Amino acid sequence: MMTANEVRESYKKFFETKGHKIVASAPMVIKDDPTLMFTNAGMNQWKDIILGTKDPGKDVRRVDSQKCLRVSGKHNDLEEVGHDTYHHTMFEMLGNWSFGDYFKEGAIDYAWEYLVDVLHLNPEDLYVTVFEGSPEENLSRDDEAARFWGKHVPADHIINGNKHDNFWEMGDTGPCGPCSEIHVDSRTPEEKAQVPGRELVNKDNPQVIEIWNIVFMQYNRKADGSLEPLPMHVIDTGMGFERLVRMLQGKHSNYDTDIFQPIIKEIERLTGLKYEDAHGDSRTQTNIDVAMRVVADHLRAVAFSIADGQLPSNAKAGYVIRRILRRAVRYAYTFLNRKEAFMYKLVPVLVQEMGAAYPELPAQQELIARVMKEEEDSFLRTLDKGINLLNGDMDELKAHGKTELDGAAAFRLFDTYGFPLDLTELICRENGYTVDGKGFDEEMEKQKARARNAAVVENGDWEVVKEGEQEFVGYDYTEYECHILRYRKVTQKKNTFFELVLDHTPFYGEMGGQVGDTGVLVSADETVEVIDTKRENNQSIHIVKQLPKDIRADFMACVDIDKRDGSAANHTATHLLDYALKQVLGDHVEQKGSYVSADTLRFDFSHFQKVTDEELRQVERIVNDMIRQDFPLDEHRDTPLEEAKALGAIALFGEKYGDKVRVVRFGPSCEFCGGIHAKSTGRIGFFKIIGESSVAAGIRRIEALTGKACEEAIYALQDTLTDVRALFNNAKDLKGVVGKYIEEHDAMKKDIEKFRAQTVERLKDELVKRVKLMNGVQVVRAVIEMEPSAAKDLVFKIREALPENLLCVIGSKAHEKPMLSVMLSDDMVKGHSLNAGQMIREAAKLIQGGGGGQPHYAQAGGKNIDGLNAAVDKVIELAAL
Ligand code: SER
Repeated sequence: MMTANEVRESYKKFFETKGHKIVASAPMVIKDDPTLMFTNAGMNQWKDIILGTKDPGKDVRRVDSQKCLRVSGKHNDLEEVGHDTYHHTMFEMLGNWSFGDYFKEGAIDYAWEYLVDVLHLNPEDLYVTVFEGSPEENLSRDDEAARFWGKHVPADHIINGNKHDNFWEMGDTGPCGPCSEIHVDSRTPEEKAQVPGRELVNKDNPQVIEIWNIVFMQYNRKADGSLEPLPMHVIDTGMGFERLVRMLQGKHSNYDTDIFQPIIKEIERLTGLKYEDAHGDSRTQTNIDVAMRVVADHLRAVAFSIADGQLPSNAKAGYVIRRILRRAVRYAYTFLNRKEAFMYKLVPVLVQEMGAAYPELPAQQELIARVMKEEEDSFLRTLDKGINLLNGDMDELKAHGKTELDGAAAFRLFDTYGFPLDLTELICRENGYTVDGKGFDEEMEKQKARARNAAVVENGDWEVVKEGEQEFVGYDYTEYECHILRYRKVTQKKNTFFELVLDHTPFYGEMGGQVGDTGVLVSADETVEVIDTKRENNQSIHIVKQLPKDIRADFMACVDIDKRDGSAANHTATHLLDYALKQVLGDHVEQKGSYVSADTLRFDFSHFQKVTDEELRQVERIVNDMIRQDFPLDEHRDTPLEEAKALGAIALFGEKYGDKVRVVRFGPSCEFCGGIHAKSTGRIGFFKIIGESSVAAGIRRIEALTGKACEEAIYALQDTLTDVRALFNNAKDLKGVVGKYIEEHDAMKKDIEKFRAQTVERLKDELVKRVKLMNGVQVVRAVIEMEPSAAKDLVFKIREALPENLLCVIGSKAHEKPMLSVMLSDDMVKGHSLNAGQMIREAAKLIQGGGGGQPHYAQAGGKNIDGLNAAVDKVIELAAL
């Protein structure tokens, strides 16, 4: 039996023998595409080739195994995962590609040869689907595909499929086309004899499932919904790796293959529970099995995301990852009885199983486990809070004799504490209550409507002014002649602006942490301001408030040079910082994010404790040394990937690199980088760290300044110092003088405290002497100048001196503020049923204040100092002695 790793290799090797180049998986987390957060199909990384905006070069046939995540957007499997045995969040997609080379017949023949001749699947178990056509889209049935399949399978194994199943689209817009799916019937011979496989295709039968989708990319779906033919025909195939392995290993469930079993075994070991291999149909499914599948699946998604540089967070992709992790924690909490973080303990086994194929896992194992544990801990705390809240809600229900929790309460738990309805229902059920599910749905709808109203960006279609591709000239120029190729209108919360693509541009689009350029487009008749530049599909997108009047004019594109120089210097400084951190802290330091603007820089990196002041100073010294050495920018554009690695250039996990990369060197610092840099390190001027902090478990952040910003910061620092020195009579030995002041200050504080204690003691003696007896109660009454804390000490001391039959009321004044303190001995509370807290609430009205406390002692502050005497008398009156 082939192992999973062998299957992956055999696929790549087969297509290699058919002239395909083996290429690497792109990162699973997508960084520079506003339309997609995660790779959801193998074709994502080839989107610009498919759309015709990038030349595929000589490698028009390619093959790979792509890490994918389907949890948001058009292709979203999240809620299915765990409940059946063949859906996943993260999965691997085996793909072969033809960019304008072979088309339907070639793709069908190769697929057949691989499945039947190489993997020896039984042709009788294979069914294929073809697109039945769609009159409203004006598309006819894919007779061609049917004809080519006819060479391999009998007619009753070819099934028509509708637009939902057989017309593949990447998202709401983008490349698309009819597709043919291959389904495998893996039921027993008896089952097959009862119902023919063709009747179960696409019917959610867990044993008759799709393994391979072959898309004939022919169209581009535009924002207005229309289809436009693509410049060339493309073959995009996607085979579900986990499903294929399951077929080949003769298992009923993906989770029974060697991809998942080691993880499940470890879950069993850690929980002491058993995975019973329920088949994922509702009859035999147990919650424990579901929970184990959820955890095994989500572990992979979360670990691979962190390895790709995407940490769980509250926004966008980070939030999706957080939700996946929380879903796993929830299932483990409820059904595996895990009340403490435990998923992170599964990281070693995952690394052992997948580390060879994906080196980003072992390289970052410690970071992955730390981040996971921190997230688990924090969500478990939230769960606890939510459960307390729910307990409170249930107590309320009980008090009012009700049995149903209302929808708004259930929704609040969902919204604030991440409790999905089923968890709330489960806890309520265990306690004999039900939940108003309909009310919950209504609240959910209301929230969705609110979100829809806040919907942010609407992109229009690109209007083509001139055919052609953009060339980026910004590494060499800050001004360049250009023309507009295309533009589109964008509406964001009622604001409208336009995005332009130019044929030549010196404008750098925001990427790799470096902000986009700003500047102007100048023609003979007008000047248009470029307020920002973004990056999309490897192109600079220039943002302008208004379209130029003459869209076809010759323009000069001019970058704002001051800003550009600032961000270039800061970007170069991050490279030097990265180098210095590795020198000082060690090779485990790996860049985890950065932000570089004209004014400041921020650099996030993996490191497991606080960087000490000494280490920071060492880092600063190394960077400043490199600045003084004035290393020139040594740039290698279009370096083949392997050559760049051989140069020792630092690549980042989770970044997408093409076959050719740009390498940027400054002396000993050497990195893969597409950013804009200073011409030499000397241009940075000076480097100063202004902050070191933690971003997440195992990730630190350094904030720093360079050049002019540094200069200004130093002036500001000096000004402060000058001002402070002036306060101390321009003392030469400022440190010594301030030290002495602090010493004196501390000594005076002690004296004052002593003096205050003596005063309190003296006052106590005096007041105790002046005590008045009223109906056998010892009443102490006084109005005095005194700090609130001293007044508190005083009443406690009086109680010590007169522990019985005591009513003590002190009105004190300090800094023009009145304060009322009431103290009762215990027998007064019990015997006379007096309550200091209640009395003070009433009396404090006279000083326009409020307060309260316990039955025997209470304090209240107020605003009206003139009412203090009356307030003191009021307390005595209320005691009604
Ligand atoms: N793009 C198709 C899919 O994802 C085939 O790779 O199913």
